[in-house]
Amino acid sequence: MAGIEVTTLHKRYPDGTVAVDRVDLSIGDGELFVMLGPSGCGKTTTLRAIAGLERQTSGDIRIGSTLVNDLPPAERDIAMVFQFYALYPHLTTRDNLAFPLRAEKMPESQVRERVDEAARMMQLGPLLDRRPRRLSGGEQQRVALARALVRRPRAFLMDEPLTNLDAELRADMRTEIKHLQAQLGTTMVFVTHDQVEAMSLGHRIAILNKGRVEQIGTPLEVYDRPASLFCASFIGSPPMNLIDVEIADGALRGAGGLLLPPPPGLSRDRTLIAGVRPEALEVTEPGAEGAIPARVVSAEALGDEIIYVLDHGGARDVRVRTAPTVRYDLDAPVGLRHSGVMTPVYDASTEELVA
Ligand SMILES: Nc1ncnc2c1ncn2[C@@H]1O[C@H](COP(=O)(O)OP(=O)(O)O)[C@@H](O)[C@H]1O
Ligand SMILES: [Mg+2]
Repeated sequence: MAGIEVTTLHKRYPDGTVAVDRVDLSIGDGELFVMLGPSGCGKTTTLRAIAGLERQTSGDIRIGSTLVNDLPPAERDIAMVFQFYALYPHLTTRDNLAFPLRAEKMPESQVRERVDEAARMMQLGPLLDRRPRRLSGGEQQRVALARALVRRPRAFLMDEPLTNLDAELRADMRTEIKHLQAQLGTTMVFVTHDQVEAMSLGHRIAILNKGRVEQIGTPLEVYDRPASLFCASFIGSPPMNLIDVEIADGALRGAGGLLLPPPPGLSRDRTLIAGVRPEALEVTEPGAEGAIPARVVSAEALGDEIIYVLDHGGARDVRVRTAPTVRYDLDAPVGLRHSGVMTPVYDASTEELVA
């Protein structure tokens, strides 16, 4: 097992596209590290560079204490699992699992031991004699994961391995992967564009945008204090409300007189945007203490909660998360107030966190 150090990694493709722009990552030995970002932000390119499938334009990659820049993939001792699980269609599950070991000329008795162990961990026992076309999508992906396991690599690299599965199976597989990683203690880099997946899996998350890392932190750190407006709008469902504010009488004021607690050390000479989670706002009766007037634009009743969209006279409507028992009609006049939890504040021009 080994940690992975990526230092000022840069990748420019021959057509001039800069896919990865000076990325630094320090992934701990035994860590489940998630790279999260929208399509095209450079996740796959970064992972392929770590695997040795793509040569970086500049920058260094270390696995354990070894500088691997010039090592071919096979000598990096890592296993990669892709979104499209490439199983050999003419081989049974057992032979698919054995394939990478036989390729290394491992003695057959040991191959059998390793295959049986991986099959036990991924619960593939009843599937060992089937070919891929007789397996469901989820079963195929479990075989693909098991095939990465049998090699006992120093690290796993996973490129959106759950994206093609349906929602229920994806949740199950997420639990399995998390459990497996904890059990094996093997370093894992898991790439996804799905923030829920990232939050539920990662020990830490790196949020990428346009080839750059915008934030690295634990799930709670990135949720509580997104480092940029991009991160603020990417994490959370619905994401943070971005509210134009100014400093008045020591408080942050938004449209309609909405008051937010001011973080310490804010200077007045810039245009500010506050990031307010939907659960940090409250819908009240009109005229309730501390509430400004607003109107219900729409409501999504999700069963365990309701998301209200309110017009409070601001440039953008705000979303408020409430208990399912809080009921207001469309178009009803209501009150809107902030619950008082500390609010991160961003500079509108640099889009970075200022306080
Ligand atoms: N072989 C290639 N040649 C040119 N541009 C590429 C190539 N592969 C990827 N790109 C571009 O690099 C950027 C990052 O791609 P990628 O790493 O696949 O992103 P992600 O996995 O986050 O969706 C995108 O703009 C993509 O179009
Ligand atoms: Mg990709």
